[in-house]
This record gives sequence, structure tokens and C-alpha cells, in this order.
Amino acid sequence: QAVGKGGFAHYMLKEIHEQPVAVANALEGRLGTDRVLVEALGPRAERLLAGTRQVHIVACGTSYHAGMVARYWLEELAGVPCQVEIASEYRYRQVVAPPGTLFLTLSQSGETADTLAALRHARKRQDGDAYVGSLAICNVPGSSLVRESDLALMTHAGPEIGVASTKAFTTQLTALMLVTLALRQVRGGDAELTARLVHRLRYLPTLLGDAVALDEEITSVAGKLATYRHALFLGRGPQMPIAMEGALKLKEISYIHAEAHAAGELKHGPLALVDETMPVIAMAPMDGLLEKLKSNLQEVRARGGELLVFSDPESGVQSGEGLSVVTVPACCHYLAPILYTVPLQLLAYHVAVARGTDVDQPRNLAKSVTVE
Ligand code: G6P
Repeated sequence: QAVGKGGFAHYMLKEIHEQPVAVANALEGRLGTDRVLVEALGPRAERLLAGTRQVHIVACGTSYHAGMVARYWLEELAGVPCQVEIASEYRYRQVVAPPGTLFLTLSQSGETADTLAALRHARKRQDGDAYVGSLAICNVPGSSLVRESDLALMTHAGPEIGVASTKAFTTQLTALMLVTLALRQVRGGDAELTARLVHRLRYLPTLLGDAVALDEEITSVAGKLATYRHALFLGRGPQMPIAMEGALKLKEISYIHAEAHAAGELKHGPLALVDETMPVIAMAPMDGLLEKLKSNLQEVRARGGELLVFSDPESGVQSGEGLSVVTVPACCHYLAPILYTVPLQLLAYHVAVARGTDVDQPRNLAKSVTVE
């Protein structure tokens, strides 16, 4: 390999630790004092975003989860309707794209067969130029996706070797927040909140450094999780796709069966799975849904489920019998999905190490899926 492990036991661990720098690189040159530099997103960015009335996001795997987070941001912060779809589904159905739809693909490699085919399918559409244009958020310059899209925003994560995606995901989220704020600006959204978010984005690499420093604490909780055969991840709002990403990381590299659900869906099925053999992992940042999440957690405790909660210092969730809390640095709720990803990556990593699996090369999986 051209890229070494830099003293880390695995590429994945190295790449988790690289996230503060990777995210700083994704932001580099793209932020002004109190706004996103739309012109820095590419020569055609301003015109493309000005013509955008809604967004269709298409991706696979971890990249799809980044798109799901972005839907919450785009609708709330930019006021544009957003639909997110798995590329292998999108490419085989006749999606209705109202005029002014931006086609946005997310891909670490830029070579994923289904995502590329989805882009080609969208470009071929003969229904009155529905798509205003295509934007690729990608980590590999010169990749097929970048070459075939109208506009490409590079994530600058640097080479990612571990099959389980880590820094590629958090930099995609960062790029998606930039696009969200750029759309908000172009559409004349209140500048004060934009400025606040720009300031918080600047501070994000520092916060990510604090999250990476949870490594040791997470190693100790991972030992217990490694003894289970199943795990359930719960989240609300934009933490729901983060729960999906946490479950994906865990199953990919530790081979523990893991499912994720919107916490509000607990009573509609998943609660039937909960007993002392089913650990439940949840994220509890400070947001408007915290109290509702806490009542979901009580339902789990009442059924004997072992809880592991990643929470804000002010959340009021406290460790106790059957409930372990890992405190995540305080963070504004808009950026919390990026921050809370890091402890979930560390959790999956240390569980996999405890189980002795091949962390960087999990069985049956490939870094880039270039065939259907
Ligand atoms: C594979 C990788 C995943 C990745 C997915 C999409 O399944 O193992 O880590 O999320 O492909 O890849 P892309 O390069 O399009 O982001």
C-alpha cells in the first residue's frame, strides 16, 4: 500500500483519527467570515443552486446514510423539498422529477456501479429537462462520477483504505452542510443563523478531535458489546440515519447482527425483540426530541434491555443499572450528526477487534462495488 498505517493497528483506526484534519480540509477555502463562499464550490455552483427548487439525492451504502441526514438539513435550513434514494432502486424506476430538481449523488469512490448508472439514467430522462443539473459530492478527483456530473464538490478526505467508510462519511456530511448553507444563502434565508452555523463549522474539527479522544472509554464499553449476537440502534431526527450508519459499521466489521430504527417506531415492532440478550445503542444530543427519546429508552429498560447511550453532557441521561452513558462533547444540534458518528465508528472498531475479525478487509465486502 502506498499509504501506511502511521503507527495505528488498522487503517480504519487511523482513518477515524484523521477525521478532524479531513473535515478541516473539506472546509478549507469554502467559508467566508459569516457565509459559505458559494463561488468556491465551483464555477457553475451559483447558477445551479439558484435554479434549484428541490433535490433528489442518490447513493449507496454509507454514502446513502449521509444523504438521509442531508434531507433533514435541506428541508429545515434551506427550505427545499428533498428525496433520498438508494441508487439500485432509483435507476430502475420512473422517478417523477418536478422542474428545477437538482440531482445530487454521493460517493466516496465515484465508481460505484449503481450510483453511476443512476446518474446516467437521470441524464437520459426525456421529460422536459426535469433536472436542473447534477452535482456529485465525491472523494476521488477524476472519477467517472466527477467527470460525468455538471458540478463536483470534492470532499478532500484523502485516501480511505479501510473497507468500512469513516472519514469519507464525515467529510460528505460536511460538504452536504456547505451545500445546504449555500442553498440557504442563494434563497435568501435569514443570515444570522447562517453566520452562527459557519462559526460552528469552523470549530467542528476541534470537536471531532474531542470525540476521537473518547477512544479509550469506548474500548471499555466495547468489550461487553462484543459478547452479544445482536444489537439495536435507535435515533430520532437526523440521528436516525446516524443510527443506521452505526448499525452498518457494527455489522460490516464485527459480524454482529445489528438493526437501526427510528426511536419512535420502537412500539411498532422492534420492542418485541428487546430482552436481556438485546443491547440497545442510542444517541441523545440536545435537541427538541430529547425528552421523547428518553421515554423510548425507559421502555427499553423496562424490558431488561442493556442500554448504551451516547449523550450530551446536559442531557440528564445518567449511568446506572443496565445503562452505560458515554458523554459526547456539547455541540449544536445541527452538527451533532457529524460528531456522534465518531463514537459509533470507534464502538464498531473496538467490538470487531475484541472479536478478532479482519477489520480492514471484512469478509464478502469490497471497498468499491463497480459491478451491479
Ligand atoms: C461499498 C463500500 C461502502 C460504501 C459503498 C458505496 O459497499 O464498502 O463503504 O459506502 O460501497 O461506495 P461509494 O464509493 O459510492 O461511496
